[in-house]
Amino acid sequence: MEVLLGAEAIARRVGQLGEQITADYRDRGARGPLFIGLLKGSFVFLADLVRRVDLPLEIDFMALASYGRATVPGAVSMLKDIAADVAGRDVLIVEDICDTGRSLRAAQELIAGRAPASLRTCVLLDKPSRREVEVPLDYIGFEIPDRFVVGYGLDIEERHRNLPDIVAIDPGPGR
Ligand code: IMP
Ligand code: MG
Repeated sequence: MEVLLGAEAIARRVGQLGEQITADYRDRGARGPLFIGLLKGSFVFLADLVRRVDLPLEIDFMALASYGRATVPGAVSMLKDIAADVAGRDVLIVEDICDTGRSLRAAQELIAGRAPASLRTCVLLDKPSRREVEVPLDYIGFEIPDRFVVGYGLDIEERHRNLPDIVAIDPGPGR
């Protein structure tokens, strides 16, 4: 295991993102933005990020499942929808990592179809070398190389989400 991003570097960057979001949404109305975290990977990032945003805000969660090329190529299905009504809201999608882009693209299309006042996307990690579909990203924590990473919410087969650092691993054959 190789530490790619240590907990302190992550915290510093998350603070900067929080300040930027605070400034960008300051004059957008009393209700504030609706943060939609994509489960499960974003839960640590979202928890830290919202504590660095100095605005009224609301939080909801959506869970999507993506299937590998073996089944339906690039298909994404919804496991859990948000409870909130996004119509007229300033929505910020929060995701752990943008890899092929398919999950985020699906989430963006779903939410965009429900007439939000605005829609932006915030990712902690971006792996641009792996992109398969175009996805607008408004806030990016770190661009990383084509390595498989775990920790800070990210998993391999549901493990290592609790690591405080982001660590690159060899995911083994077939990944
Ligand atoms: P997508 O390929 O951009 O649709 O990403 C789908 C999902 O794959 C992400 O939300 C992550 O949960 C997962 N993923 C992509 N790259 C990694 C990684 O390096 N480590 C852990 N999970 C990853
Ligand atoms: Mg995920």
